Order: sequence, then C-alpha cells, then structure tokens
Amino acid sequence: MRPMTLDDLSGAALEGKRALVRVDFNVPLDSGDVADDTRIRATLPTLQRLLDRGASMVLMSHLGRPKGQWKQDLSLRPVAARLGELIDAPVRFVADIVGADAQNAAGALAPGGILVLENTRFLAGEEANDRELSEQMARLGDLYVDDAFGSAHRAHASTAGVADVMKDSGRPAVAGLLMEREIRFLGQALESPDHPFVAILGGAKISGKIDVIENLLPRVDRLLIGGAMANTFFRALGLDTADSLVEEDRVDMAKDLLGRGGDKLVLPVDCVVARDAAEDAETRTVARDDVPDGTKILDIGPDSVDTFRGHVQGAGTVVWNGPMGMFEKAPFRAGTDRLAHAVAAATDAGTTTIIGGGDTAAAVERAGLSGRMTHVSTGGGASLEFLEGKELPGIAVLSTTGGQDG
Ligand code: 3PG
Repeated sequence: MRPMTLDDLSGAALEGKRALVRVDFNVPLDSGDVADDTRIRATLPTLQRLLDRGASMVLMSHLGRPKGQWKQDLSLRPVAARLGELIDAPVRFVADIVGADAQNAAGALAPGGILVLENTRFLAGEEANDRELSEQMARLGDLYVDDAFGSAHRAHASTAGVADVMKDSGRPAVAGLLMEREIRFLGQALESPDHPFVAILGGAKISGKIDVIENLLPRVDRLLIGGAMANTFFRALGLDTADSLVEEDRVDMAKDLLGRGGDKLVLPVDCVVARDAAEDAETRTVARDDVPDGTKILDIGPDSVDTFRGHVQGAGTVVWNGPMGMFEKAPFRAGTDRLAHAVAAATDAGTTTIIGGGDTAAAVERAGLSGRMTHVSTGGGASLEFLEGKELPGIAVLSTTGGQDG
C-alpha cells in the first residue's frame, strides 16, 4: 500500500476546502533574509496544485531548533515574504500557531489565499508530539497535506501527530507532490533499481553511515566510499593514515565490511593531504599507501575520481550521499566537484541519479549541477534514514490508497 497523494484526491475533495499543509521551510537565513530558497521552491508544485483546484491553504513549518522558546531570529516571517515573491497568490503571515489569531486568520482565508503560521517549534508540544496541540492544528484545515519530506523522520505534532488526528476524524492526510516524488525516487532505488546500481557514500564517519551501508550492500553492484570515512577502511587494510581522522573503534567493523563486501566495496586509491584543513593549506596528492607523516587526508585524489567515474558511467542507478572530502574548503573540493560532474554526465547518458540531501545537495548545488541530476532530495536526515530502510513516521502515518486509515 502506498501513501495517498494529492493526485488521488478528486477536484471536489479540494474545491473550496482549506488544506493544512506541512512544509519544510527550515531554510538558511542570512541577516534575516532567506539565503537559500530551494526548499521553498520545491513545494511550489503542491501549492500551485491546491491553488488550481480552488483550495485555500494554511502552511506550517519549523525553522531551526528553538526548543519551545519564541525566538525572533527564527521567525518564519521572512520565509513567508519570500514565498510571496515566488507564487502568484496572496500570502499572509500570522505571528501565531494555534491561538485565536491563527484560527481567525485561517477562517478569513478566501479560496486561493495562503496563510503561513509562525514556527511550530516555538511551542514545546511540537517536538513532544503533544496530542492536544495536534488537535488544535487539525482545526485549521479540512484536510492535511504533508509535503515536508525533510521532516518525515520526526514524529512531531505538526507531522505524524496532526495526520493521526485528521485520519481519526475521517479527514484525509495525504502526501504532497514533493513528498510523493521523494518517496518514489528513493523508494525505487531501494526496491527496484536499474542495474548496475552504484551507491556512493562519503562524509566523516562510518558510525553515522553504518546502517546505510548495511542496507545498501546487498542491493548494490558497487559501493564507492570516499570522505574521511574511507580513512577507517584504509586503517582496516593496514595502511598508515598519519594524522587523518580515523574512528579507531570502528576499524574492526570496517574489516568485517571489507570481508563481506568483497569486490563490491571500492575505496579511493589516492588522496589529497595537507598538514591542516585550512583555506590556504598547501596540499599534495599521494597514493593511499604513501601518506606522509604529519599530514591529514582531506579529499580523494584524481585517480580515485577516475576509478569512481568508471563505475558511475553506464550505471543504471546512482545514489550519492556524503561528500568526498572537506568540500567546504577550496583546497579539498576538487574530488567532490569532479565526481559531481561525472554523475551529471551519467544523468545525461540516461542513468537515474539521486542525490541525498544535506551536504551532498549543497555540494552539487555549489558546483552548479543540481539541474543535471534526476533527483536532488530536500531531506538531509530524512533521506539518510530512508536509505537506511527505516520507516519514517511522517510517511507511515499518511492515509493509504487502500483507505484512510492505512
Ligand atoms: C532538516 O533540515 O534536515 C529538517 O528540516 C529537519 O530538521 P531537524 O534536524 O532540526 O529536525
């Protein structure tokens, strides 16, 4: 059974109705302005669909981690203003979440109107998934639309909680179009990928990726490993990693994975090293078995990129989660950048390419290549948990096509 989506609702189910829409507008702000509106743009198809069907909508989101405190610098007001610039509809903001002001503003919405509520995490009940808060939220809409894939791994009042209340009262709780797209692409990669299926994992630590490795290993044809987590595999191979970050307590785990993974696991063959991870660092490219004393491995080298490119070219499906090096700093960006170009070229040649959210999405965006990937996830933690094979509470709770209580 799959979650019900907006596509499953008839025109009559939306015409003149007020949709309570959970979005993930947890976007970076810079001096009070939205610094990156990717997540806002990603919800536009859902909002436009609701507008086209004659619905009005009340939008809920969290922003940052205010932990139940009202914090002016985490207000959604500037985010609502940005949405108003992106969509051809009146967007109103109310500095309230479930109180009288919010109820009144929601009640005053005309069809085609959009109301953005204040940051749901200003209320302690949000993260506690407080039932009473969910009930108050549910009063704001006739149906619930969840387009917040980035928050789907959180069982909070405005995600799983309110969906439950909606269903309990016989109202639909459906996935928005972004949520549907995320589930479709990530789900297809896990359940029915086109082969060869190549996963690329990077980032600092094996400990943060072990569940993904375990879930992907039986499914993939190749698992390419980069980022600092490759260092722990190098150590497992008995290589000298000098001053590099290594998770000493995971070396045995890496040995076990190398044994079980066999040819499937592909490690970098060369690396970019420096004494420090500084913007002005002097770097050298060395073979992985020739890391000089007093240096740290901070990126994969060009031969590794060539090796990885060879696996990506001609793949049926590529899933990439985690940068290849410390890409935030210019001297250690080339490995991630060049691999991003290789993945983009694979997309052009017909490979389905899926970019996990968070750092990887940021790296691909920085390289100007987001538009050349099949799908760039808007979820960081959520896409990771999805790839780990975990059930995400924000998805599990939605109505299903088999009925509203799935
Ligand atoms: C994200 O940015 O990954 C989501 O918005 C979830 O945010 P959180 O980790 O603060 O729950």
